[in-house]
Amino acid sequence: MPKETVTVIVNATGEQLELPVLRGSHGPPVIDISQLPAKLGYFTYDPGFKGTASCHSDITYIDGDKGILLYRGYPIDQLAEKSSFLEVAYLLLKGELPDHPQLQTFTDTIMDHTMIHENLRSFFGGFRYDAHPMATMVGVVGSLSAFYHDSTDINNPRHREIAAHRMIAKMPTIAAASYKSSVGQPYVYPNNKLGYCGNLLHMMFSVPCAEYEVNPVAEKALDLLFILHADHEQNASTSTVRLAGSSGANPFACISSGITALWGPAHGGANEAVLRMLEEIGDVSNIGKYLAKAKDKNDPFRLMGFGHRVYKNYDPRARILRKMCHEVLHENGSSADPLFELALRLEDIALQDDYFIERKLYPNVDFYSGLIYKALKIPTNMFTVMFAIARTVGWVANWMEMVSDPRGVIGRPRQLYDGHCKRDYTPLSER
Ligand code: SDX
Repeated sequence: MPKETVTVIVNATGEQLELPVLRGSHGPPVIDISQLPAKLGYFTYDPGFKGTASCHSDITYIDGDKGILLYRGYPIDQLAEKSSFLEVAYLLLKGELPDHPQLQTFTDTIMDHTMIHENLRSFFGGFRYDAHPMATMVGVVGSLSAFYHDSTDINNPRHREIAAHRMIAKMPTIAAASYKSSVGQPYVYPNNKLGYCGNLLHMMFSVPCAEYEVNPVAEKALDLLFILHADHEQNASTSTVRLAGSSGANPFACISSGITALWGPAHGGANEAVLRMLEEIGDVSNIGKYLAKAKDKNDPFRLMGFGHRVYKNYDPRARILRKMCHEVLHENGSSADPLFELALRLEDIALQDDYFIERKLYPNVDFYSGLIYKALKIPTNMFTVMFAIARTVGWVANWMEMVSDPRGVIGRPRQLYDGHCKRDYTPLSER
C-alpha cells in the first residue's frame, strides 16, 4: 500500500514537500507536519488548536458532526444505562471492561485510599472562609505532591498505578472537605462501607449532631453524572494535564493544573455559569433580551451551556441529561422548578433561532448538569468541583497514556512573532 501523502508547494519559490498522512481507527486523517520547519522553514498556525491533533490516543473518540462519544469504543448512552462510575473508571484506565473479580479488586483498592494525610486537614483552615471550593481544590490537590514520596517515579508503571488510584480515591474527600470548609462545618471522614458517590454525599452533607442516610436516588444520579463527565478527548483541561505531564512533573501537580483549566466558564465552569445565567434571566419574558446580548459581538455575554468546540450537533451527554433532569426533578417534586421551566423555554427558543442554527450551537453537557446538581441540593459553587471529581479519571487515564508512550516528547508549541525587531538598549538618560 503506497504511503499516503499530501504535497505542500511554496508558490513564491516552487519548493515542494511531501508530508505523510496518518489515519487512526476512527475520525479524520491527519497530516504529519513535523518535518515542515526543518525541510521548508515554516510553522503551522492554529490558535486554540481547532484543527490540530496533539497526540495519539486510544481512550475516547468524539464525532462532533454525528454527536457520537465512545469511551474505549463503548457508546456513552450504553455506559450511562448499564455501567457504573468505578466500572467506567476501570475501563478508561485499563482499556477493557473488568470481570467481576477485577471490578471488586479495583473498587476495594479505590475505597481503601479515600483518606487524606492528617496534616492536609489543616490546609483547609488556611484559606479565606469564603474561598471558592475550586480555589481550595487547586491548592490542596497540588499539595498532594508534597506527600506520597513512595510512588513518584513516573517511569515505574506500579508507581503510576498507585498515584492514579490515590488521585481518583482522594478527590471526593478533598472536594467534600473544600465544601465543609466553605460553610464552616466540621470535616467528615470517609466511610468506606459506602459506595464512591454515596461516600461523597456522606462527607458533604452529614453533620456530627444528626443521623444522615444517603439518598439512593441522589447517589444513582451522581454516579450517572460522573460517568458522563469522566472523559472527553483532548479538551482544554486534559490537554493542560498532558502538557504539564510532558515535562515529567509530579502527577498530583499535573491534576491540579487540570482543575485550574477546568474552572474557566468557557469550560467546566459553565455548569455554575448556567445556573447564574438562568437566575439573572429570571423570567421567560427576558429571554429575548439575553439572546440579543448573546448575538451581539460587542457584548461579552455568551449563552452559557450552549455551543461546543467539537459538537456541531446535540451533545450526546446533554441528550441523556435532559431526560434525567425530568426524572430527578419529578422524583424530588421540583419538576415545577421555575429555573428548569426557564431552561426548557430557553433551549426551545434558542434551537429555533437562526443565529444558533447557522452556527450549530446546541445545548452541551453543562446546560442540564447544573439543574440536576441543584435538584440534588449540591451548592452552586460546588458544580464544577463535581465535574473535576469525575474528570480526574479522564485526566489520569490520559496522563498514564502519555507518560507510557515511547513517542512522547515535551510539549513546546511555537508562535507567530509580531513584536519588535532587534534594537539596542537606550540609556535612561536618553529616554
Ligand atoms: C465543556 O472541549 C470539550 O470537550 C469541553 C467539554 C468537556 O467535556 O471537556 O465538553 C466541557 O467545556 C463544554 C462547553 C461549556 N462552555 C459553555 O457552555 C460556555 C458557552 N459556550 C461558548 O463559550 C463556546 O461555545 C465554546 C467555548 C464552548 C466553544 O467556543 P468556540 O469553539 O470558539 O465556538 P465556535 O468557534 O463554535 O463559535 C462559532 C460562533 C462564533 O460566532 P461568529 O464569530 O461565528 O459570529 O458561535 C458563537 C461564536 O461567537 N458562539 C456563541 C456561543 N458559542 C459560540 N454565541 C453565543 N453564545 C454561545 N454560547
